[in-house]
Amino acid sequence: MTAKRILLGISGGIAAYKSAELTRLLVKAGHQVEVVMTESATRFVTPATFQALSGHTVYTDLWDPRPSNAMAHIELSRRADVFLIAPATANLLFKLAHGGCDDLISTLAAARTCPLIVAPAMNLQMWQNPPNQRNIEQLQADGVTVFGPGNGAQACGETGDGRMLEPHQIVELLHGFFADKLLAGKKVLLTAGPTYEAIDTVRGITNISSGKMGYALARACRDAGAEVTLVSGPTHLDAPMNVPRIDVQSAAEMQQAVLSEVGRSDVFISVAAVADYRVKNRSEHKIKKTAGTPAIELAENPDILATVASLPAAPFCVGFAAESQNLLEFAEAKRRRKKLPLLVANLAQQAMGADDNQVVLLDDAGQHPLPAMPKDDVAAAIVRHLAALLAKR
Ligand code: C5P
Repeated sequence: MTAKRILLGISGGIAAYKSAELTRLLVKAGHQVEVVMTESATRFVTPATFQALSGHTVYTDLWDPRPSNAMAHIELSRRADVFLIAPATANLLFKLAHGGCDDLISTLAAARTCPLIVAPAMNLQMWQNPPNQRNIEQLQADGVTVFGPGNGAQACGETGDGRMLEPHQIVELLHGFFADKLLAGKKVLLTAGPTYEAIDTVRGITNISSGKMGYALARACRDAGAEVTLVSGPTHLDAPMNVPRIDVQSAAEMQQAVLSEVGRSDVFISVAAVADYRVKNRSEHKIKKTAGTPAIELAENPDILATVASLPAAPFCVGFAAESQNLLEFAEAKRRRKKLPLLVANLAQQAMGADDNQVVLLDDAGQHPLPAMPKDDVAAAIVRHLAALLAKR
């Protein structure tokens, strides 16, 4: 994503301390961040913290004479690509929903020409309070984007809705906010991660797939405006925000989940490293060493992607090929055998478990090599290519 100018508004909730981390993450991602605070926010965290983290003067006062035209409320939002208010308290949301302008943040919001995003943060009861819910509805109707709130333990000791989203979640949603909506209206089904084929109750056959490429693609499709469902083998990754995840273990479970979802999908992207074989003579109990070396009998797993690609009303199918040699030759043969309009080829030893990837896209027009880059960028490039192919159909 290209660097943005972000005006970060901080109002007076305890979650204000998390906005220090949010500022750091936004700056680290290359954005230019200017911070404005309400007077009550400065009671939780000092402006000096945000000045140090953002590298810019922090404004708290409508009457600050420092902006060149002495109109802080206008000048600050004019140079921003987005006004993000995190945390947004119930009182601030009330003011925003009703056009109140009695402090720098509410006045900046009223005078802005850029999009406004709020990340609410408050106690569970305050969040559920009917006037607050009406204010949120009003803000959404006015075109304001609402991030969260999250659910969990609260500073007041209660548990429920109302927590500000974590800083990394806000950054993830913000990047999605700016992405081109190339897959708007499309339903995308994805598989990711390894599968696990049980030998007995505690042992199994799996592989070193981390799920990172599949999860990056799920986020990229979501950011491009698609409605995404992720079928995931066992990974250590958090489910991407706003993406329903169906957790599975074996290839058979993955196939079942895919076949029950695929009817409503326009696109199927098969990133999972599905085990080719399952254990035929799986033991119901832990195999004892005293019983001698076990003979493990294998049976071939169904090819989920090939099954989906040969359905009468098949969605647009995208496959992955991880090869350790003769990459392009093997990958193109696989694309033809499985009848795929698009296949992503990568070297297994380079791709699996890594944060970066270098891929070649294979389609009916030929080979399209991409440079080595972080998996998030590879995913964004695949989405652009996919959207272009879908547009030609
Ligand atoms: O044949 P191979 O396993 O190399 O093909 C890789 C592609 O096929 C990947 O997209 C993978 O997700 C998919 N696949 C599958 N079911 C299998 C094996 C592979 O969907 N049993």
